Amino acid sequence: METLVGTSTRWGCEHLIDRILIPTEALQRRIAELGRQISQDYAGKDLVLVCVLKGGVMFLTDLMRHITVPHEVDFMAISSYGAGARYSTGVVRILMDLQTNIEGRHVLIVEDIVDSGRTLDHILRLLWTRNPATLRVCALLDKKARREIAVPLDYVGFEIPNVFVFGYGLDLDEKFRNIPFVAVLRAEAMEGLERPEGLG
Ligand code: PRP
Repeated sequence: METLVGTSTRWGCEHLIDRILIPTEALQRRIAELGRQISQDYAGKDLVLVCVLKGGVMFLTDLMRHITVPHEVDFMAISSYGAGARYSTGVVRILMDLQTNIEGRHVLIVEDIVDSGRTLDHILRLLWTRNPATLRVCALLDKKARREIAVPLDYVGFEIPNVFVFGYGLDLDEKFRNIPFVAVLRAEAMEGLERPEGLG
């Protein structure tokens, strides 16, 4: 079992952590299950995983190790926050588009977290215009309490409460994406944070 002292000390963020919400073992166990399920569901299909940067990258690389169906990966970068913005503007911007033609193919979007749903809604609307055979979503974390737009989630790792989380791809002012567990930020550390109403 992961302990706060045993893990956070290595990552230099122990003073920022209130508690570990999802330990490494639980994350990896669930991701292996998701990979098995996806492999069954997409057997014999032309699968393209679309990873939403930057947060989704750690999830993608672990998930694809458990997907036994031959597949491609591609990346999109989308941001709902202006540079240096303290609050969500609600405006979604495409920073980098796909290189792959997804027409007629089975597309699975891989996201780290769904919060308001605005980012995903935007991506889904955009990708549907490109005529994929199917378009589904795999989200590691579902922060349902903050949903503003209903979005269909086909695979979900964990439903989480309305707390600020970071780690495992999710940043804290762009840092600590590398820690291998999902942590809750301490209330005191919220002060001075670049975007307190933001993610994770
Ligand atoms: C985060 C996250 C999702 C999105 C979810 O990305 O990775 O893409 O926000 O929020 P929403 O449901 O309220 O739209 P962010 O804009 O923080 O960029 P990042 O992944 O590069 O950190």
